[in-house]
Amino acid sequence: MSDDFFPVPAEWASSALFDRDGRAADYRRSIDAADAYWLEQAKRLDWVNFPTKTNESSFHEADFGVKWFADGVLNVSVNCIDRHLAERGDQTAIIWEPDSPDAQPRRYTYAEVHEEVCRFANVLKAAGAKKGERITVYMPMIPEAAFALLACARIGAIHSVVFGGFSPEALAGRIIDCDSTLVITADEGCRAGRQVPLKTNVDAALKLCTSVRKVIVVQATGGAVAMEEGRDLWLHEEAAKVSADCAPEPMNAEDPLFILYTSGSTGKPKGVLHTTGGYLLWASLTHELCFDYRPGDIYWCAADIGWVTGHSYIVYGPLANGATTLIYEGVPNYPTPSRIWEVVDRHQVQTIFTAPTALRALMKEGDEFVHSTSRQSLRLLGTVGEPINPEAWRWYHHVVGEDRCPIIDTWWQTETGGAMIAPMPGATDLKPGSATLPMPGVVPQIVDAEGHVLDGAAEGNLVIAQSWPGQMRTVWGDHERFFQTYFTTFPGKYTTGDGARRDEDGYYWITGRVDDVINVSGHRMGTAEVESALVLHEAVAEAAVVGFPHDIKGQGIYAYVTLNSGEEATDELRQTLVKWVRSEIGPIATPDVIQFAPGLPKTRSGKIMRRILRKIAEGEVSAQALGDISTLADPSVVDNLVANRQG
Ligand code: WTA
Repeated sequence: MSDDFFPVPAEWASSALFDRDGRAADYRRSIDAADAYWLEQAKRLDWVNFPTKTNESSFHEADFGVKWFADGVLNVSVNCIDRHLAERGDQTAIIWEPDSPDAQPRRYTYAEVHEEVCRFANVLKAAGAKKGERITVYMPMIPEAAFALLACARIGAIHSVVFGGFSPEALAGRIIDCDSTLVITADEGCRAGRQVPLKTNVDAALKLCTSVRKVIVVQATGGAVAMEEGRDLWLHEEAAKVSADCAPEPMNAEDPLFILYTSGSTGKPKGVLHTTGGYLLWASLTHELCFDYRPGDIYWCAADIGWVTGHSYIVYGPLANGATTLIYEGVPNYPTPSRIWEVVDRHQVQTIFTAPTALRALMKEGDEFVHSTSRQSLRLLGTVGEPINPEAWRWYHHVVGEDRCPIIDTWWQTETGGAMIAPMPGATDLKPGSATLPMPGVVPQIVDAEGHVLDGAAEGNLVIAQSWPGQMRTVWGDHERFFQTYFTTFPGKYTTGDGARRDEDGYYWITGRVDDVINVSGHRMGTAEVESALVLHEAVAEAAVVGFPHDIKGQGIYAYVTLNSGEEATDELRQTLVKWVRSEIGPIATPDVIQFAPGLPKTRSGKIMRRILRKIAEGEVSAQALGDISTLADPSVVDNLVANRQG
């Protein structure tokens, strides 16, 4: 057996939900007896009306649509809270670890979460919120962020969480797109010892939009903020005025639960819409299978609630399963690179779920920051968001987990609602860098550029051949764009936008995006978004953005910028443009490199040849690497680009 193969540890094989044969049999049943399988799985939720229907989806244009459990009725907050009260009302549901290690953690039992969420829901109702209305949530990583989501779900309002690192402009765009009537925010966030002016950002965003009637403000830091009379309300003041009972709204399984904006290869971010029944079932099922969740486990997903990982694996999956979920306000390396492991020790965490970019950053700081902590409570180590390089995988396994804890590398997307390809700890032998095998009901295929399905060991485009319960249902306000984006490249199949290789054991290895999306520190960024921000600056005539390999971030942002005539290409302007993009989109979009380019490589029809720009950014500038440039309108621009390469 080679070094690159990690068999299931014996104690896992005998104790887990599934062993290898069990997983294989369960998977076969999910495909061969799909209706029976999914009706059985539906029992994991509490329904007002149990569904009789399962999958009624089609990926074909004539009868296109994604639909699951369509005659079922349920409420998500009931499934995440109320149904646990009888058995584990006094169990901790949420542990909150503040940014500063010197501040006091907070704990909420399921009974306490119930009261907080009911009051919050009544505050929303008193502020006029109605079923089906959109509520934008712009919050730091505090327990009230989870309460906000569950309160929306309780009254049937659709939440749209916007990551707290986004700028006022980006926030406004997302409010306008879904026509939100309420915003939930906090006075300030707190990250790595610094204050984030969330309420001030909301004030700036609301100058750019008109739909918002009320702003509910959580007092988090106590920092001074302006409150607009008649519009802004303090949550704690309003919560004291309302009842602690709030009857849950009965929702159809296909009623919307949330919108989450994500970057695509073209245009502005898309509002990915998830609905009630299928999404919750998928979050709950995959959380249980991937993390072999058992009652009493303390589980920590170190993502932000602003991303889908936070939705599915901090809030909905674990709470639906009655878990104890840890919410961490800060960042992995503050105040020291030991912090993440100190939090594990402090709260005796069994499962941690984080991103490769965080692991690479910590790995670089040296093993002593890990060794200074115990980590004996850890059982499982999860990862998500980008391909994990085998070096980081081995470090996580050996240094962090002391060769004891399986690595659960979960491949999925905002669009898929939950994990699609991932190991199960008792069932799956591991290979560093492979997300391994499909979850129940997931039928991945590898297709070539013409859409031919490739069998056996193969590499190409990763598509999914049939619907699964957690699949997104539409792009908010643009159903046609949903169809065009995901189902026309390879007709009849869901296109993931990722490339993948399948090896001789049937294991999947994700090779990264094949479209114009780059993955910066596990965050999706459309190159088109950064380009649009750059060209908004008065000095810029044109911009082209590509990704390049980056040691810590996975990919960095490399921007080629053509200036308007008369503008001078100075370092100062470079700094100005970097700041400009940060303020237009947010710090996650900060360009790592800006290269001033008098001309961009374009075809005669005016299309920018990104292949060439990618190669130059990667430092591959030989004639062989650059390939055929004779089809360019002006091949000489390439010499200039190569000569002025940055970094
Ligand atoms: C990438 C995050 C390799 C992939 C849940 C995907 C991964 C995009 C993995 C979705 C993984 C996510 N291995 N690549 N384990 N997980 N990706 O929508 O390119 O923020 O298409 O969802 O991240 O990013 P999103």
